[in-house]
Amino acid sequence: MTGHAEPIHGIVVLTGAGISAESGVPTFRASDGLWCGHRVEEVATPEGYAANPALVQDFYNQRRRQLAEVRPNAAHVALAELAARWEGDFLLVTQNVDDLHDRAHAEIPPGAGFELIHMHGELLKARCTRSGVVMDWFGDMAADEASPHHPQGRMRPHIVWFGEMPLAMERIEAALAACDLFVSIGTSGAVYPAAGFVQLARYAGARTVEINLEPTQGARLFDEGVYGPATEAVPAFFRDLQT
Ligand code: APR
Repeated sequence: MTGHAEPIHGIVVLTGAGISAESGVPTFRASDGLWCGHRVEEVATPEGYAANPALVQDFYNQRRRQLAEVRPNAAHVALAELAARWEGDFLLVTQNVDDLHDRAHAEIPPGAGFELIHMHGELLKARCTRSGVVMDWFGDMAADEASPHHPQGRMRPHIVWFGEMPLAMERIEAALAACDLFVSIGTSGAVYPAAGFVQLARYAGARTVEINLEPTQGARLFDEGVYGPATEAVPAFFRDLQT
């Protein structure tokens, strides 16, 4: 482990499904690789949506409804508490499409240096297939949901499917290039570009930490590893963090 005595000003935290697991939101690669009983290609690709929009919309309608049954856990709250007190820059990038980070930060207002980015989109947003306009969406979405933004448009989940470009990548890369601390929480490191963020942070000379239930396939890329359930490991790690 290399020493990192330098003061910490800029933080980037990346979260994955593991941070929401203890809230009751299923992760992706825990069981048989199926995603709530579906093959990913059927429900998380543009081709799957084109082939069977009713199946895809129903899959996301079910996940959108499930949000009403879950709440932020101690790991989400610990990050919100950090965002409230942190005087430097703090970018929270999540691969998750649930709104648990959003709710935690709504309950504990963050400081001016905080920003939350959903790089894989959000269950509670919809996008017009023709205009690209994104809007809040809380209820179910029909297979041929008409768009209020374009006469030929349809509303689709504002979710980044496989083969599509994750959101806000320039902003994320700029923050990684300037950060002093990068912490990856609850992600298997199986999907790029998120799995490559630790390398960008290392090039910037940042201290890199992996917090996960167990070591991931990218564990050796991090200066430090903290292993255990997120609701225990995340509050413990950030409780004593000072600028
Ligand atoms: N506390 C901490 N970590 C946990 C917990 C927990 N309670 N439960 C599970 N984990 C860890 C697992 O060990 C695993 O490494 O969370 C990680 C979840 O990995 P994945 O299921 O692969 O989820 P994620 O890394 O977020 O997937 C990335 O892949 O399918 C796409 O777009 C989807 O955003 C997703 C992306």
